[in-house]
Amino acid sequence: MKKILITRRLLKESEDKASKMFDANLNSNDELYSQSKLIELTQGCDAVLTSLTDKMDEETINKLPDSIKVISNFAVGFGNIDLEAAKKRGIAVTNTPEVLSDATAEIGILLILGACRRASEGIEAARESNWKWSADYLIGKQLTGTRLGILGMGRIGQKIANIARSLGMIIHYHNRSKLSEDKEQGAIYHDSLKSLFSVSDVLSICCPATKETENMINKETVEYFPKGAVITNVARGDIVDDEALIDALNRRKIYAAGLDVYKNEPNLNPGYLKNKSVFILPHLGSATKDTRIAMANLAIDNINEFFETGNCKNKVN
Ligand code: GLV
Repeated sequence: MKKILITRRLLKESEDKASKMFDANLNSNDELYSQSKLIELTQGCDAVLTSLTDKMDEETINKLPDSIKVISNFAVGFGNIDLEAAKKRGIAVTNTPEVLSDATAEIGILLILGACRRASEGIEAARESNWKWSADYLIGKQLTGTRLGILGMGRIGQKIANIARSLGMIIHYHNRSKLSEDKEQGAIYHDSLKSLFSVSDVLSICCPATKETENMINKETVEYFPKGAVITNVARGDIVDDEALIDALNRRKIYAAGLDVYKNEPNLNPGYLKNKSVFILPHLGSATKDTRIAMANLAIDNINEFFETGNCKNKVN
C-alpha cells in the first residue's frame, strides 16, 4: 500500500476514502505544519496531499525525500507550488479542476453583487439597527445592462458569465486565446488587458496566479478602467497589487471591490478593512460540502491514477 501524507484535515468522508486506499497519515488537529515538520512527516511517503495553505516553494520541494513522486493539491489553483522545482525533481503536481467551478462561480457572483450593492455597509447598518429607509439610502450600482469584464475565461469564468448574463450583464473577456463561439455565447473577446479593462464597468478576476498574472491589477492598469468601475477577485490575491487597488478605491477611481482571496492570507492588507466599499469574504470559493468532498475525492484519485498508470490527467507540470 502506498504511503501518503495529508497535510490538512479533510471532511470525514474523504479521510475514510483516503485511509481505505492508502496508508494515510492524517492531520486530525488540523495543525498548520511548518516547513520542517512537513519535511519530517513526508519521510517514507510516496505522495503528499497538500492544501493551498502549504507553501511548496523551491526550498521545501528540494528538501522532500526522494520517495515522494506526487504532490496532489487539494485546489484548482496551484500558485502555492513551484511547478518547475517539482518537475526538476521528477515530482508530478496535480490539481482538482471542474468539481469546484459551480461553487466558486457562485461566490464570484456574490462578490459582484456584494460590491455593487454595498452589502458591507448594509450588513453593518442592519446589525447595528442604525439605519433609516429613505429614497436615496445606500444607493448602489445595478447590474442590468452593465458590462462585465472577465479576466480568464476558463471553466469558472464561463460559469460566472452564464449567471451574469441572466442578470442582464453584457459579457466581455480577455483570455490567452479566443474561445470557440460555442463557449463564448456572445461574449466579446479582447486581445489585451487595456482593451478589456477600458470597457469593464465590473471586472471579475478568474485567471490562475502565475508569474505572468502576478500584479496584473497595478498602478498603471487600474487607470485603464472607466471611472467608478468595480473590481472583484475570486481567483488569487497575487493577481492584485493591493496598494494600487486601495489607492484607487480611496480616490474613488474604483467605486468598490469584492474580494475572496488575498496576498498573504489570512492577513489582509489593512487598507481594505478601512474602506467601506470593500466587500470581503475569507476565501470561501469552494466552501460547500459537496464541492469539498468532490475536490478531496479527486485529489485522492489523482494520486491513485498516477501510481496505477504512471500519469494523471490532472497533472499540471
Ligand atoms: C480554491 O481557491 C482553489 O484553488 O481550489
